[in-house]
Parts: sequence; structure tokens; C-alpha cells
Amino acid sequence: MIDIHAHLLPQVDDGPDSWEKSLAILRRGIEDGIKGVVCTSHVLNRLDEELEREFVGKFEELKKRVKEEDLRISLWLGSEIHCNAEFNPKSKIATLNGNGKYALLELPLVGIPNDVEDIFFRLSVEGITTILAHPERNSVIAEKLEIAYNFIEKDVLLQSNAGSLTGQFGKRVKHTVLEMLDHRMIHFIASDCHSPHRRPMILSRAYKIITRHYGEKTAEELFIVNPYKAVIGEEISPSPPIPIHENRRRKRFSRLKIFRSCQNVNMQSSFVKKRIDASARIKLKMAESEVVEAIKRAAEYIVQALRLGGKVLLCGNGGSAADSQHIAAELVGRFKLDRNPLAAVALTTDSSILTSVGNDYGYHDVFRRQVEALGKKGDVLIGITTSGSSKNVILAMRAAKEKGMKPLGLLVKKAKL
Ligand SMILES: [Fe+2]
Repeated sequence: MIDIHAHLLPQVDDGPDSWEKSLAILRRGIEDGIKGVVCTSHVLNRLDEELEREFVGKFEELKKRVKEEDLRISLWLGSEIHCNAEFNPKSKIATLNGNGKYALLELPLVGIPNDVEDIFFRLSVEGITTILAHPERNSVIAEKLEIAYNFIEKDVLLQSNAGSLTGQFGKRVKHTVLEMLDHRMIHFIASDCHSPHRRPMILSRAYKIITRHYGEKTAEELFIVNPYKAVIGEEISPSPPIPIHENRRRKRFSRLKIFRSCQNVNMQSSFVKKRIDASARIKLKMAESEVVEAIKRAAEYIVQALRLGGKVLLCGNGGSAADSQHIAAELVGRFKLDRNPLAAVALTTDSSILTSVGNDYGYHDVFRRQVEALGKKGDVLIGITTSGSSKNVILAMRAAKEKGMKPLGLLVKKAKL
């Protein structure tokens, strides 16, 4: 098991007050079967360089002591940031293991700040997914699970405490976390350990409860797979949550099947919403990136080529072939304004050329031959390859370069021309 939420560094928060207690927590965690842990001490007001230095210094010392005692556990550094705290998401302790991918945030136990979704959004623009610590302990969420459901819709992941599941925080918290689990709203279970005895690093009891009620696979996801991915910064794609219904006060396990039969209808609109949301976020991020300048420069090349009597050739495979034709159609036809037609040819449309060149020379040459036949110095070739590695597009781009044309690539990864 991997524990992504643990207060282990001494004298930095309400966790252990001595190295001995830090090590005692770890010894108990190791006995419990925990193989790795992220040190997530509290950041309550401000994450500045001084605090970062303090956490890093104590973390290095902890690693040294763990090595000296030959304790077999992996240690990573992060922090648990209060959502009202000021912090720079680029700080090496703002994200788990400094991976720049997952940040552990906590809400107050009472109430939810108005701007909390803005905080999630700002992090997502930086490519950081928020992991919300112990939402089951927040009184507003306990009353209205829809709030947590909406957070998940905004790509927030939820971490509950093992102690919530074992009844350490009372019946109400236990009921809330079980209800969230019924609705697939929990993505990690962690110890949130603070001390060797009162709040220890123990996950095995919660692991057994999850296995008993939800099966071994769910337990592995919550305690091993998702936590490990969060540490190494790998994408986590959880199953969508089951929507909360008005009459959610119910016998937890007996009604699970009814909820599951309802979920398919509701899941689809949430899936669509999520994708639109993700697409909008990517565009917003693009608007702040160097892509803006690159698109501007590409547009200038195209305008210059057309003004000098040149033309635009386009190529790509599959969906990129359709994009090539779409762009050519809008240049030859019109886009928004009535104007003179502009010279553009999609090299993806002549099936005789594609099949004969493909047959005689190979598919890699279907665009290159056309560029050599039709391209002139000063023309533009737009090559679209989302992988950045479509060989026929790359060969066409190289041919264009050799002919003194301007090759412009629309791609996700950098292609080697
Ligand atoms: Fe905590």
C-alpha cells in the first residue's frame, strides 16, 4: 500500500513533535504493510521559500534516519495545502513528490470557500489535478454530497481517511464516507497520520473493509494503484461517479444495484460535459502559451505566399485528411467573409494518385510525390500529424523544404524534419 497523506516531519505542524515519534509512526506503518509514503505536512497560510526550505531540510533528515535504521519504506515529499493558503503551484513541495501533477488540498472542516472551484481551475490550467483531502469530514459536504460530486465533475479527485472508514471520527463521518464510496466518489484512501498511537499510519483495517464491501480490485485501486500513479505523476482515469439522488438517505448496500442501473443514463451527459470542459481548458491554456506566437507566424507565412501568387497544399491521414480538406475548402470557398477564392489543394483527395503511388512506391510517398509535382518555391505545405510521426507527412514536409516551400506542421509532438 502507498500512503499519500501523512504528517511525518517533526515540529512543522500538528504532527509528531520529535524524530523518535516520526520514526515510530513509520515503524507502525511498515508493520501494517505500507511500502511508500508521501510526507504531506500542513501549509496553512503561505507556502513561501522559507517553508519550502524547512520541509525539504526535515525531509532529507528523515530520509537519512530511515536509512540509518534500515526501515524499508519509500519516502516522497509533498504537502497538504489549505485551500485559503497562498502558494505557488510550481513550488517543489506544492505537488506530491514534486511531480507538478497532483496537489493535495484541504478544505476547512466547516464551510466551503466561495472561490474553491477557481482554485481547482487555476491548478488545472497549470496541469495540476487537485486531490481533495478527507472531504467526508467537511460538514457542508456531509450534508450535501452533490457538492463533492460536482468537484469530481471538475476533475478533482477525492481522498478519504482510513480512520473515517474505521469509525475513528464518529458514525456520521463513517456513514458519509461509505455513501461516497457507494457513489464511486473516493479515489484514494490514506492514513492522514499525525502520531504513533492516536492517529497512526494504519491502512490495513480500512483495506479489509473496502475488500469486504467493494471487492479486492477496488481496494487495490484506492490503496495501491491510484496512490502510486499520483506519486509518479501518471494520469488517473477513474470510473465516473454515480450521481447523487434527492432521496439518497437509504440503506447503503441494498440499494446499490438500483443506483448502478440508473447511472448509464446520467453518466453520458456528465461525460460530455467533462470533455467540453477539458477542451475549453486546453484552449485557455493555449491562449497563454507560445502556440499563439507560432499560429500568428504561420498565418503570416500563408498570407505572404497567397499574396505573391503562391498556394497552400495540405496533407494528413484519417481525421487529419478531413481537416486538410476542410481548410482547403474554406480557402477556395469562403470563411466568414465573401472574398476572392484563395489557392489551396488538399493532397488527400485524388484517390487515383493515392492508390497508384501507394501501390507503386509505397504509402509513405503518397504526399511527397504530389508535393514534388505541384509545389513551387514560396508555396506553403501544411502537414497535419497529431502524433508528430506520420511518415508520409514528414516525407512531404521534407520535400517541401527542399523545394523552397514553407512547411508548416500542425502536430502534438515535435516531428523531426
Ligand atoms: Fe492531513
